[in-house]
Amino acid sequence: MEDKIISVAIDGPAAAGKSTVAKKVAKLLGFTYIDTGAMYRAVTYAVIKRGLDPKDERQSETVLPGLKIDLLPDGRVICNGDDVTTVIREPLVSGNVSYIASFKNIRLALVDMQREMAKCRSVVMDGRDIGTYVLPEADVKIYQIASVETRAVRRYEENLAKGIPTTLKEVEEDVRTRDRIDSGRAFAPLKPAPDSVLIDTSFMSVDQAVDAVLAVIKEKTGVTPQC
Ligand code: CDP
Repeated sequence: MEDKIISVAIDGPAAAGKSTVAKKVAKLLGFTYIDTGAMYRAVTYAVIKRGLDPKDERQSETVLPGLKIDLLPDGRVICNGDDVTTVIREPLVSGNVSYIASFKNIRLALVDMQREMAKCRSVVMDGRDIGTYVLPEADVKIYQIASVETRAVRRYEENLAKGIPTTLKEVEEDVRTRDRIDSGRAFAPLKPAPDSVLIDTSFMSVDQAVDAVLAVIKEKTGVTPQC
């Protein structure tokens, strides 16, 4: 196979299983996985850590100068030298991240970083605006959905496994609220790109969802896992 750089965009609502699927697809194809949600979460944590109000645009933007976010190949997220991998999944961050993600200057700064990451390598990038805004020329665009009930149960179980204390009700509320804010914001809102392929994973196992994404990638680019 030639060395063409391929980009795969996976967008969709909260807790639709995008990162689980994207990670596996990237590994199977030897592409780099980029979790753009982790970047918005890292900024949210940086704002909270400095004692600033994450609902206040002016205050929140002050974390941008010098901001450094590293997504390591082993999945760790480093922000300004701190390992924030675990803390960015906490309810305090989840409950504020959609406000931070609605601020234009914060989005522009992170989008620059995301485009830079996808410049010289093949990527699977997941988020809300990858196919519509970050990589509008992506070779493959997937819009991954599942019912809100399914998504809430999946995220609740993930939290349990990570030792993050939440109730199913809280998680469902968080998912609904974030979807509302993410879809309703003025700049680069959550919505399917017109040329995206819709995959509903409500009744799919992780492996079935991975196979469905791989089938679209094969159809659009001819690329398949090597073994
Ligand atoms: O994993 P989950 O679906 O819960 O969310 P995430 O991918 O970690 O993203 C967290 C939040 O970041 C989302 O609810 C959005 O507010 C924001 N986000 C965004 O606005 N644009 C992206 N490309 C990725 C995430």
